[in-house]
Amino acid sequence: MSETFRPALPDEIPEVARLEAHSFPSTTRTHQWWENWLVHGPHGGLESLWVAEERGRLIGACQLLWLRQWIAGVAMPVMGLASVAIAPTHRRRGLAGRMLTAGFDHARERGDVGSALYPFRASFYEQLGYGLAGEAHQYQLPPGLLPDDKVERMRVRLVDTPEDEAAMRAVYAEASQRLQSGQLDRTARSWRNSWGGEDQAAVVYWGESGQAEGYAIVRYRADLPIDKRFLEVEERVWLTLGAQKGIYAWLSSLGDQWRELVYRAHPEEGFGDRISEPRLPLLSNPGWGLWFPSATLLRGPMFRVLDVPEALGMRSLHTDEEMTLRLDVDDEQVQENRGPWRVRIEGGRMEVEPYRGGAVDATFSLPMDTLSRIFIGALAPWQAVAGGLAHIDRPEYMKTLDHAWAVPKPWTFDKF
Ligand SMILES: CC(C)(COP(=O)(O)OP(=O)(O)OC[C@H]1O[C@@H](n2cnc3c(N)ncnc32)[C@H](O)[C@@H]1OP(=O)(O)O)[C@@H](O)C(=O)NCCC(=O)NCCS
Repeated sequence: MSETFRPALPDEIPEVARLEAHSFPSTTRTHQWWENWLVHGPHGGLESLWVAEERGRLIGACQLLWLRQWIAGVAMPVMGLASVAIAPTHRRRGLAGRMLTAGFDHARERGDVGSALYPFRASFYEQLGYGLAGEAHQYQLPPGLLPDDKVERMRVRLVDTPEDEAAMRAVYAEASQRLQSGQLDRTARSWRNSWGGEDQAAVVYWGESGQAEGYAIVRYRADLPIDKRFLEVEERVWLTLGAQKGIYAWLSSLGDQWRELVYRAHPEEGFGDRISEPRLPLLSNPGWGLWFPSATLLRGPMFRVLDVPEALGMRSLHTDEEMTLRLDVDDEQVQENRGPWRVRIEGGRMEVEPYRGGAVDATFSLPMDTLSRIFIGALAPWQAVAGGLAHIDRPEYMKTLDHAWAVPKPWTFDKF
């Protein structure tokens, strides 16, 4: 085949912009918009651009963004895959698959241990080793259903000054490192994409000691017809229970202005138990007999391990137990990941080397998309085995593995 895959050259930006405009047609995203996005995008520019060329013409392009993603308390170098575009004349001949496989090698060479993306269709990326890595429960409710707390509400103040903004960023950084998995390590550029729009507002919860302990970013959806308007909660982060109560209480106080609030809860937040009526607006969704619809399940990001020994070597574990595994990985695109590997679990870490025979406690075999979901905490090992997605020859070790890999379910606010 006469196609080649390589980083884009500066003078190719207009040609790439035209390809992108074919793949993502929009009245607002003109060629000029794409040129600007590809060079000055919030998560990366020309240095991230990867193209497919055939006989001197570009036939495909994507962004291999340089992200750092917090996973189990470690900021890992992760390739953010975005803007995947294949010329409309070159579809369904495996070109995207080949362009991305070459992109995986390129990302591995520059040191990325994983990759993250938002799919147009999950099954397409599952074939490429990605697994779904994020769930949110979307509630639509009148603000008054949230619990009020007149004491904690008084600690919530609007973000107005650079100091307020710095406090918000510090809360995000601490929560991503200590309490959540899956968030990006934000740069000044990526923060600008999340906060600062004229239709947004943000608040910080200030604790008793004068420290910021939580924040929320909301968007005023006044762009919609008056009967369809709502207040959209885009981010909410807290380090303490007081901050959580304060933010819920602040939202609950906005009921005279906003008829509806759209809130995306973390699956482990227990949001449905905190509100006084966990019911979606009447007739917005079918019920089931006497059951009522409560929230909409949203799924978004996907994750893939790109380098098994490097990624596992970085991943912290939640155990003091020791064990040795043989790990067999089915990875169609990156042969180097297949192993078999000898994984020694000790002192809350994994040491990975090629398996060269010898006794192990158990052999764990699974495809890359499943390993990736376990790695980021989207799936527990027992769920993978029970669902037929993975196999272990000694099921008595399941509990140890589940405990070791456990982290809060992954959660990513950033769009890229
Ligand atoms: C999505 C997109 C990138 C796919 O590009 P593509 O080169 O057609 O993708 P591939 O050929 O690698 O795979 C597409 C399908 O064709 C199949 N295919 C591959 N070779 C084939 C062949 N020779 N004959 C028939 N089908 C083939 C693949 O198996 C895949 O199957 P699936 O539909 O079961 O998943 C392209 O359609 C595009 O640019 N779309 C618009 C923009 C977009 O949505 N981008 C994704 C953003 S995340």
